[in-house]
Amino acid sequence: MKHIACIEDLRALARRRVPRMFYDYVDTGSWTGYTYRSNEADFQRIEFRQRVALDIAVRSTATTMVGQPVAMPVAIAPTGMTGMQHADGEILAARAARDAGIPFTLSTMSICPIEAVAEATGRHPFWFQLYVLRDRGFVESLIDRAQAANCSALVVTMDLQVMGLRHKDKKNGLSAPPRPTLRNLANLATKPRWCWNMLATKHRQFGNIVGHVKGVDDMRSLADWTREQFDPHLSWRDIEWIRGRWNGKLIVKGIQHPDDARLAVKSGADAIVVSNHGGRQLDGASSSISSLPAIVEAVGRDIEVHMDGGIRSGQDVLKAVALGARGTYIGRAMMYGLGAMGQRGVAAALDIIRTELDLSMAFCGKTDIRSVGREILHMK
Ligand code: GLV
Repeated sequence: MKHIACIEDLRALARRRVPRMFYDYVDTGSWTGYTYRSNEADFQRIEFRQRVALDIAVRSTATTMVGQPVAMPVAIAPTGMTGMQHADGEILAARAARDAGIPFTLSTMSICPIEAVAEATGRHPFWFQLYVLRDRGFVESLIDRAQAANCSALVVTMDLQVMGLRHKDKKNGLSAPPRPTLRNLANLATKPRWCWNMLATKHRQFGNIVGHVKGVDDMRSLADWTREQFDPHLSWRDIEWIRGRWNGKLIVKGIQHPDDARLAVKSGADAIVVSNHGGRQLDGASSSISSLPAIVEAVGRDIEVHMDGGIRSGQDVLKAVALGARGTYIGRAMMYGLGAMGQRGVAAALDIIRTELDLSMAFCGKTDIRSVGREILHMK
């Protein structure tokens, strides 16, 4: 794949191959997009300190996340509608993650259902992301389904009690599958590869939900479902309730404030994810990487701290680790690979990130990711 050297190359190819509304769904933030852009821009402001003449011949990026071995401190983030970037997208991404030795997180709002991903990956354990919905009976059934599918961690999203305003989705009339309007059909006609693959799969709706909730047999819009079902009453007591029901590791995602991080520790979670939901919820919030140090300072001794938001290279992963993140998550970088080239594209994204991480670590004079700290950064 001579023409693919970095995540940006995958993004450009995905933009050509994925129908407009689904590409836009990924490559967007809420409101003005300030936080979406800051997530990336703030990484670029952090500088490394290079070292020379240290023996860097033998190196390892392997570590653990919530006690599970990972080939590098990167997991695939839960992303909604992954199976609309490419047919069977969740299955393909889960296979690529398994082959690369890192965790895959399946979103509640996936197209392929939990059971199909489990079967297609040989029941290799993956992580499941849970939204706490008003219908607690349905939440219980999702937890039980994740348990039955051999999922090894539950990632509970805390920051989507209400949904950020996403202008592109509104203008595009985002739905899965797309409505057969003239505009959509004209756009689909320019994406024959996408259409061909999509015709060959049976997974074209929100597979965890449609057919599993009474009265929901055609749910096209994530926004409508969110308005009706996501629970604005969510509280830390719900997390304790989930803790009591779930046997595996529990990760709480969407933390930006040290006080919330302290409450997460009390709730019994095994890890937190510092996240602003990829700049898709509260626009105007600080970037994830700039929120990270204060949270590590507050709870880093009590709980594992992970982060997501803005990671487009292995250098970003290294910076996050240096600032105290035990693990990171990639959402868009994976989605671009998937939209560009399916499973091969996700594998390429992971390979790019691992190579960039390994080389940058070497330039900083480190041979083991577990020994990386702030000393590799210029702290201005
Ligand atoms: C869902 O989690 C989204 O950000 O669209």
